[in-house]
Amino acid sequence: ASNQMWGGRFASGPAAIMEAINASIGYDRKLYAQDIRGSLAHSEMLAKTGIISADDSKKIADGLGTILKEIEDGKFAFSTKLEDIHMNIEARLAELIGPAAGRLHTARSRNDQVAVDFRLWVKDEFHRVAEALKGLIAAFVERAEEHAGTVMPGFTHLQTAQPVTFGHHCLAYAEMFARDLSRVRDAIERMDESPLGAAALAGTGFPIDRHMTAKALGFREPTRNSLDSVSDRDYALEFLSIAAIAGTHLSRLAEEIVIWSTPQFGFVRLSDSFSTGSSIMPQKKNPDAAELVRAKTGRLNGHLIGLLTVMKGLPLTYSKDMQEDKEAVFDAAETLDLMLAAMTGMVRDLTVNAAAMRQAAGSGFSTATDLADWLVRELGIPFREAHHVTGRAVALAEEKKVGLEKLTLDDLKSIHDGITADIFSVLSVQNSVKSRQSFGGTAPAEVRRQVRYWKKRLAKA
Ligand code: ARG
Repeated sequence: ASNQMWGGRFASGPAAIMEAINASIGYDRKLYAQDIRGSLAHSEMLAKTGIISADDSKKIADGLGTILKEIEDGKFAFSTKLEDIHMNIEARLAELIGPAAGRLHTARSRNDQVAVDFRLWVKDEFHRVAEALKGLIAAFVERAEEHAGTVMPGFTHLQTAQPVTFGHHCLAYAEMFARDLSRVRDAIERMDESPLGAAALAGTGFPIDRHMTAKALGFREPTRNSLDSVSDRDYALEFLSIAAIAGTHLSRLAEEIVIWSTPQFGFVRLSDSFSTGSSIMPQKKNPDAAELVRAKTGRLNGHLIGLLTVMKGLPLTYSKDMQEDKEAVFDAAETLDLMLAAMTGMVRDLTVNAAAMRQAAGSGFSTATDLADWLVRELGIPFREAHHVTGRAVALAEEKKVGLEKLTLDDLKSIHDGITADIFSVLSVQNSVKSRQSFGGTAPAEVRRQVRYWKKRLAKA
């Protein structure tokens, strides 16, 4: 039998393969609540503008209410023959209320219907991601407060560079995830327009009220161009790109956790709830959750490239290609939600080994820059020359197999005779971090100031 929704001109039904490639109900059933919300708003508007009767609109609303309950109770029979969520719901509505169901689709097409459903879904997901990001930022701010004075090595090229504080490192991630949060907010702002009423692509001759449906669905305003309304998937692309960037941040953090939790570094210990053992090596405690966060970033990147590729050659307006937007976004959303939750748990739970961090902070001649700065400040030597003098001190320390602070005053004087015992005050890691009080620097006092800033900002966020 031909399709009951669009089969008027067809003599026979689709081949089984056609049905398999065409149907989206397997995944777009996720849009059921948004589809029903959209239909309710549309039907109320149709009644208000006199396009359908108040009586039919009432029947439609009652029927949609029954369907919502059926789906939520797991009693709804989804059918692949009915392709997608829109037709599944409409067909069931016809069973429940009869001919009035056929009036719901007046002045509407599945093209604007799916566009409004998907926007509603993506908007909700943006809000979920915003909340999760806030939770992760809050976790970092708490750890930063606790560890404002905990000294660790700062790295460039993963080589010891200068001592920093763990609190400062935590706030670096607060910055990154706060940028992700601001990207989410920007994206919501841009996509907060209702495409409902664009109909198939050209608008409609019925006297609809798009401002009314936009308002009822919680959008700021209706979209201004019917062609763009049904062909735009920028909001999905933006979701995927924001997810990919946030994933990149999560992955860098995951990598640091993997490194820090090795016995060789020993900077942190993961809680039992976020690590696993080995079935053969009894001593092992593996950072599986962090590794999986690192790996799942690949999926997020794949989904972004996937949908960009789907969209790139499509002529305006709707093409069925666009049905491929949903699995990418649904999977990216599920993946990102999981990654954010796992990372927030790990950051909250991990135990910091301050002694190991401090010891590592002092190795690798990490206060060499402080030595050079002392020469500049106290002896008026140009920085380039001070750099050279310090390099000789490092070479000497290396030769004697000691840290810079263990060189004798005579050692140092042999390199530059202006050096006095005062120089030893800048060679400790504590004094090194304490001195770096420039705005945004690693000094504990500055980290505490930034923590106060973040607490205020989070309270308003
Ligand atoms: N299932 C379709 C999608 O997700 C709904 C829109 C179908 N429109 C159409 N003209 N075939 O894109």
